This record gives sequence, structure tokens and C-alpha cells, in this order.
Amino acid sequence: MSLHLVDETTPSRRRGGPSAQPRFDLTLSENPFPPLPSVLRAVHSVLAQANRYPEFLPRRLPKLIAQHHGVHPDQVVVGSGATGVAMQIIQSLTTPGAGMVYAAPTFDGYPILAEMAGVEMVPVPLDSAGNQDLRTMTKAIDKWTGLVVVCRPHNPTGTVVSAAALRTFLSSVPARVPVILDEAYVEFLGAADYIDPLALLSKHPNLLVLRTFSKAYGLAGLRIGYAFGRPEMMARVRKLQLPFGVSSAAVAAVSASYAAEPELAVRTMRITAARETLRNALRRLGIAVPLSQANFLYLPGPGVATALRRAGIAAKAYPDGSARISVGDPDADHAVLTALETLR
Ligand SMILES: Cc1ncc(COP(=O)(O)O)c(C=O)c1O
Repeated sequence: MSLHLVDETTPSRRRGGPSAQPRFDLTLSENPFPPLPSVLRAVHSVLAQANRYPEFLPRRLPKLIAQHHGVHPDQVVVGSGATGVAMQIIQSLTTPGAGMVYAAPTFDGYPILAEMAGVEMVPVPLDSAGNQDLRTMTKAIDKWTGLVVVCRPHNPTGTVVSAAALRTFLSSVPARVPVILDEAYVEFLGAADYIDPLALLSKHPNLLVLRTFSKAYGLAGLRIGYAFGRPEMMARVRKLQLPFGVSSAAVAAVSASYAAEPELAVRTMRITAARETLRNALRRLGIAVPLSQANFLYLPGPGVATALRRAGIAAKAYPDGSARISVGDPDADHAVLTALETLR
């Protein structure tokens, strides 16, 4: 059977529906490119067996991911996106009423999951430059704290806490408190800012590194995320592994994606180059866009989200009128610039 493939060099857009639909949907920091043809072929080939269940508890996917990172499969837990794995972490490592310290605003999932698990939210505002305020986060940790989350890069600003600041912070967190280091956007991070997670894990047994195939790998619709850490910690998280919870398509897609890393890296570079071009242009317009190392930009308000919406561009909007937009689709990037030209 032949497979219809979308032109892999062109960013894809959500299909235009009724006229109320936005022209561009930049709300979810998605990858603008459709899956690579080789990944589509791999997924397609396993769909022929979709009448069969996947593995009862996932073994092949953790093994693939473990090999890729040079860790033991016991150190990896996989799930339904990083969101699913974060839920597993919160439910397995905290008790209702415990506090979760995180920088706010953050990825919307964290407050939602905390509420679902009955965990007390302890948000610490970002500093004026959009950075996570690790000093204040340290002070917010007390005897009730059950979990800490640090994102690197941070969502929604794209900012990156320095390696030194992160190390100091991790050393200040009591060993009994698990720390999620959320690296959902790590593949967009400049090489100079990359930290070897294994070196961090060797010093901090309470660390869990959270990653996803939704962003740089462009597989958000397949829902594949994972965390890795010390085997004892991961064994606790694995206790809540949902039987049959990871599809066979996930294994095929990850295997094909690892085989296609050079092609994916080209896309990542295109996205980061487009991000820089757009950021510079927006700053020339007077919008104080923080330096982002992710696949999105944070555009401080007021009025930004409204101006984008009026131009048919859906963005993630914040209460003060600021917006976060995914980047990398040249037409959408151009539309953003045009929409905001008259704002200042
Ligand atoms: C910081 C951060 N962590 C985790 C996620 C969850 O990603 P997913 O559940 O698609 O793997 C996101 C998604 O936007 C995110 O921004």
C-alpha cells in the first residue's frame, strides 16, 4: 500500500476550518514540521497490527531510550507525553497536601496535575527578566515540600538558568525532596548551555530528568514522554505504570526518530534560526522579547495577545496581555511581525 507523504521540508499547518478558526495556531509550542517520511513509514507499518495490544508494561521503549542516553533501562520510565510521566511522578512521589514548588507562570500542566493529585501549589514568580528565581524557590522549600520543578529552558519565557545556578540550587534542596528537571525543549538549547544530565544525577539522587518527543522530535500527537533518574527513584515512579499505556506506534516512531537524528537536527536549526530572526525583528519594534532557547517566544504585553488574535493568530495569552507564540513557520512568523508592527 502506498503512503501519501507530506513534503517534509515544509512546515505544516492545522487545516483551515470555519472562518472563526485562526489562520495560524501558535498556542501549544508545537513543531511546525510534519513527521519525517521515515518516521511516518515506521508508524504506518505497525498500524497494520493495531488489532493487537502493545506490551503489557513497556520494555522496548525504555530500552531504546536508555541505550540512546547511555543509562540502564531501569532508570527510564515512559508514558503518555511528559505530561503523563509528570503525573506519574507527582502521584508516586508525593502525598496529598504536600507542597510543589515551581516558578510561575510555567507549563500549564503543572498546576493542573498538582490539583488533580491534591498537591498544594507553591508558585514562585519569575524575576523581571523572565528567569526562574532559584534563590526565592530555595527559600520556599520547607518541611511540607514534596516536589520541586525546574524547567530548562523555561516555559513560557524560553529563558535558561545557568549551569552554576542550577548546581547551587540542587545542592540546596534537601535530599528527601524530589526535583523534576523538565527538559522538554532541551534539543533547542545552545551547546554552551547544555548540561550532562548523567553528571547531575551522579551528584543528586533526588533528580528526575523529564523529556518528550513532542517538541524537537515533532511527535506531539503520539504522546511519548519519559523521565530518567536513579533506579531506586524510578522504581517508585514505575509502580504507577499504566498497563498497555504506551502504543506500539510509539516504539516505532522513537526508533525511526533516533535513526533520523541528523535530519531532525537540520529542522531544529531552522526553527532556532527563525526564532532569532523573529526575536530581533520584534525587539526592533520595541517589544522586550526575552532571549529564548526553545521553539517559542514570549512577547510581553499589554495588548500583544489581542493584536495577534485580531490578525487571526492564536497565541497562548497571559492575564497581563502578554503572549507566547511557537516559531518556525515562515508564514506565521511573518504574520506575527505584521500584526505587531503597529502595536508600539
Ligand atoms: C515545559 C514543558 N514540560 C512538559 C510539557 C509536556 O509535553 P508533552 O506532554 O507533550 O510531552 C510541555 C508541553 O508544552 C512543556 O512546555
